[in-house]
Amino acid sequence: MAVDNVNDSTSTSPAGKPPVLVSFEDGIAWVALNRPEKRNAINPDIVHAMLRILDELESDDRCKVLVLTGSGDSFSAGMDLREYFRATDNDPKTRAKLFRANGDWQWRQLRFYSKPTIAMVNGWCFGGAFTPLVSCDLAIAAEEATFGLSEINWGIIPAGVVSRAVAALVRERDAMYYVMTGENFNGRRAAEIGLVNEAVPLARLRERTRELARVLMKKNPLVLRQAKIAYRMAAEMTWEQAADYLIAKVDQGTFRDAENGRNTAMSQFLDEKSFKPGLDSYRR
Ligand code: ACO
Repeated sequence: MAVDNVNDSTSTSPAGKPPVLVSFEDGIAWVALNRPEKRNAINPDIVHAMLRILDELESDDRCKVLVLTGSGDSFSAGMDLREYFRATDNDPKTRAKLFRANGDWQWRQLRFYSKPTIAMVNGWCFGGAFTPLVSCDLAIAAEEATFGLSEINWGIIPAGVVSRAVAALVRERDAMYYVMTGENFNGRRAAEIGLVNEAVPLARLRERTRELARVLMKKNPLVLRQAKIAYRMAAEMTWEQAADYLIAKVDQGTFRDAENGRNTAMSQFLDEKSFKPGLDSYRR
């Protein structure tokens, strides 16, 4: 695998280890939270590194699809109880800034990211880690991964925007069950309740994620960006607003698309009869 780390000294934790690792492989940027000894609990170093990395990758041509995952055997054990919560208990200004910055990467940036994003859940996934998981466009979990909305177990509610994020994907009965019991569930169950697209054995997780990334990379990137952002926007509009907005978006896409995909594809289907849109992507 071609590895090219974009971390620099500003993203290195006091221990000298980058809090987030980035490596590139044929268009995929693998972004791994990197505190495996702390089960990738999200501390201020991770928050600031993720903000910077997401910013940089947005205009880095080596990143066509972004995969968010964790080093070692964890996706992330949620927010760091020591460094994110306890350390700021008596420092409201630092806390307010930190909470804002965390929301910035976990959902403000990720939900409307201009590149396709896949969460690859390789192990422990708790509480605050649900927000970036839900914010990614797609998610694949290891069957063996362990999930939990563990907030109730230690005396808080799923906050930040965890409750809102879960409500966006999971049926209410299932969401309420896990919010109220804090019970663990595995990757298969996460797929059943709609939290991830699918679960595969851990041994296949990376390959399956690669396969999915390759499917996305075959699509016209401008249209892919428009499709994901338009979906998220339209989901929160009235039907009338959505109809108006979506048709305007199609026009914008046609106007802006340097590769003229719509007309190329139409010609390949209607004139050349060399491709079927129902079965594959057009030749780019
Ligand atoms: N915050 C701070 N430290 C953490 C966290 C966390 N969320 N998760 C793990 N760690 C630390 C542990 O304190 C331990 O540190 P130490 O080596 O200095 O003692 C180290 O990571 C390893 O953790 P263990 O508990 O020893 O690992 P184990 O594999 O036995 O258990 C598990 C893993 C189940 C994930 C456990 O660490 C755990 O329950 N973590 C907390 C999960 C959680 O509830 N997160 C908060 C969700 S709520 C929210 O995010 C708002």
